Amino acid sequence: MRILPILAAAGLALGFASAADAADSAKGKQLFQKCAECHSDTGASTDVGPSLKGIVGRKAAALDDFRYSAAMKRSGITWDEASLKEYVANPQEKVRGNRMPFSGFAAPGDIDDIIAYLKTLG
Ligand code: HEC
Repeated sequence: MRILPILAAAGLALGFASAADAADSAKGKQLFQKCAECHSDTGASTDVGPSLKGIVGRKAAALDDFRYSAAMKRSGITWDEASLKEYVANPQEKVRGNRMPFSGFAAPGDIDDIIAYLKTLG
């Protein structure tokens, strides 16, 4: 019976979703597959999308290795939880004329999870 507390401690140490935080970064990592078609979460930008490593707290269109649209460059956004939520829910409404061809997630819970995951990419 000694194994249970050990597993619980390991879970906490790995940062599994705490009871206070409903958003689930592990689920967000799965959902990131939809973004990974165009975005790296670890390193350099791809030909189709800017890297999302360190995206939370970064200014929009800040990377030198990706050619952003004029719309993204003049958006003036600094990506935080609130602006990311709005952008992922509806990219064209948040940054009109930007070039991200993504229609948004249907379920609001999915957006919270993906942002919880993006926050781990610092
Ligand atoms: C089909 C390709 C594609 C998919 C899928 C996609 N994106 Fe993008 N994304 C882009 C492109 C292209 C841009 C740059 C847009 C511009 O410059 O106008 C972008 C820009 C962004 C930015 C702004 C980056 C910066 O440096 O300012 C964020 C944040 C972002 N995407 C998040 C996501 C997330 C989260 C997902 C998955 C839910 C996703 N994207 C899915 C292509 C994609």
